[in-house]
Amino acid sequence: MLERPRSSAKSFPAEAHRQRRLHQPGALLTPAAMSKLEIRLKETADQINVALDALLPKAQGSDARLVEAIRYAALSGGKRLRPFFTLEAGRIFDADESALMRVAVAIECVHTYSLIHDDLPCMDDDDLRRGRPTLHRAFDEATALLAGDALLTFAFEVLGEPVTHSDPQMRCKLIVALAKAAGAQGMVAGQAADMAGGDIGSDLIAVTRMNRLKTGALINYAVDAGAMIGCASEAEKTALSRYAHDVGLAFQMVDDLLDAEGVVRDTGKAVGKDKDRGKVNFVTVLGADATRDRIAMLADQAKQHLSLFGPRAYVLNEAVDFIITRRH
Ligand code: IPE
Ligand code: IPE
Ligand code: MG
Ligand code: MG
Ligand code: MG
Repeated sequence: MLERPRSSAKSFPAEAHRQRRLHQPGALLTPAAMSKLEIRLKETADQINVALDALLPKAQGSDARLVEAIRYAALSGGKRLRPFFTLEAGRIFDADESALMRVAVAIECVHTYSLIHDDLPCMDDDDLRRGRPTLHRAFDEATALLAGDALLTFAFEVLGEPVTHSDPQMRCKLIVALAKAAGAQGMVAGQAADMAGGDIGSDLIAVTRMNRLKTGALINYAVDAGAMIGCASEAEKTALSRYAHDVGLAFQMVDDLLDAEGVVRDTGKAVGKDKDRGKVNFVTVLGADATRDRIAMLADQAKQHLSLFGPRAYVLNEAVDFIITRRH
């Protein structure tokens, strides 16, 4: 387990050292000594895998192929970062672990659906995801489309079931907020903007809006849900939401850098495709170095939003460094 320090949340790499790492020429963001955080992430990923395995339908009978496809996509690795955010945000308030876990599973189902559809030939047309053939490559397009649909709807089934939370109002709030984050005011709108390429404009405002929607909205929901289940005060919810806003943007900036500078061996997905496809992203708009500067700025800002919580937000604080130095 990652221990929380007794006195301060600020036991992070020295700023100068981090800035140096962020600006290594031609390099992506170099991993720091993150082993404790990575262990904590791995523990969460293992827990999510067990919970997903238990909750997802088992392949049998005439629907076996569809269920096999759902399980192929959902149990194929992945960092499980969004579940991690829900669990760690909720743990600040000692929220009920089983409620957090079920909501975390629901979020990962929505995320997995979004990746399946994102990889389809009509969208990014990718062959590799998490180091394996994408779902439509391993199965077929229709099955991939339907597996995505099933995972999206399954998320709401999980949230709506009484076992998720004893308070029906809380369940409704969780459902409505996820629908907003994932739908036409959130992730789906962002994906539409991404597909429009240069038509959305190629300035920082347009690319920021797109990434807030396509990636930020679900990351925000993940953090906000932990705060909701933990019955955080309004001030605490606002602070966490601002943290998620900055982390979500930085996360997508790193994804864009990984596309420009990463290697398939690390990312487990194709690299160097955004530019060729005419995508507008932070790197195409700002260039790699300015993107790195913005990531550093957002990381600092994200940590400042956690100051309200002191050492209780230690893990979320450490997660920022993981996100900005990740190579996958
Ligand atoms: C990839 O998300 C898609 C984006 C929103 C950038 P992740 O990098 O979290 O993918 P997995 O779940 O770890 O594979
Ligand atoms: C995907 O963004 C965002 C969603 C799936 C909502 P990208 O298209 O950049 O993600 P990758 O690079 O394929 O993982
Ligand atoms: Mg995409
Ligand atoms: Mg893609
Ligand atoms: Mg990408």
